Amino acid sequence: VAVGVGAFPVMRRITRRLENLRNRVEALGAGDLGARVTVEGSDEVARLAASFNRAAARIEELVSAHRALLANASHELRTPLARIRMAVELMKDKADPRRKAELEQDIAELDALLEEILLASRLDAVKGLEGAEPVDLLALAAEECVRYEEAELDGQAVTVQGDPRLLRRMLRNLLENARRHGRPPIELRIARTAGGAEIRVCDHGAGIPDPERERVFEPFYRRPGATQGTGLGLALVRQIARRHGGDARCAMGERSDACFVVTLAPG
Ligand SMILES: Nc1ncnc2c1ncn2[C@@H]1O[C@H](COP(=O)(O)OP(=O)(O)O)[C@@H](O)[C@H]1O
Ligand SMILES: [Mg+2]
Repeated sequence: VAVGVGAFPVMRRITRRLENLRNRVEALGAGDLGARVTVEGSDEVARLAASFNRAAARIEELVSAHRALLANASHELRTPLARIRMAVELMKDKADPRRKAELEQDIAELDALLEEILLASRLDAVKGLEGAEPVDLLALAAEECVRYEEAELDGQAVTVQGDPRLLRRMLRNLLENARRHGRPPIELRIARTAGGAEIRVCDHGAGIPDPERERVFEPFYRRPGATQGTGLGLALVRQIARRHGGDARCAMGERSDACFVVTLAPG
């Protein structure tokens, strides 16, 4: 009995430390690459904690090396791309106009891809928001909507605290997707909610089947049949929403159409 009573607090301590370790493993799995545990004592649990820390540090190192490589390569590719664009420009009338237009299209796509990779890696690199200011979401949406003939805007005035350039980019990606992958009319709604603001972009296309509604937010994921685009648009939308204390998801509209819903924290 004496052993049993004496072992009880020890067990509790071990359980607590294991629980702590499990939490950190889950945090790492959820993407917090800086997750580490404090190593207490010198038993098996402590050794386990220390090897978790080593593994996590190695993963963090590898991931950031990959990100840096991608960002640097994208940056370096912009110079030769600018030269190619210049050369195509200089071809003037000597070239077959159809070939020239195709080349210009390819260059524009490459340029958009590099720009999106660079923006995504910049968002990865800096935590929090730099240059946040009060943004009138309805006004911003109105400005973006005029670029799309088939888009209608509806909603309430809401001010959020955010980066207007990123928020504009987010709206544009959603509108561009509705135009590119969906069918008009496009409906853009801005609403004030208890938690801040909600943006809804719906179109009358076929939408996205349930099993793929999460996958479309993965970088470079494009559904079969999508011909243009980089697959980075929705990944950026989610990154930007999360950066503003919210999130982005794909929802089913009332008529089984495509709806993308973004929530943002209050201003
Ligand atoms: N409004 C939409 N309607 C139907 N499918 C969509 C819509 N928006 C996005 N998708 C699908 O999600 C995929 C990922 O979108 P995105 O990340 O913006 O990449 P991209 O537009 O470059 O293909 C698209 O390839 C497309 O298949
Ligand atoms: Mg897109």
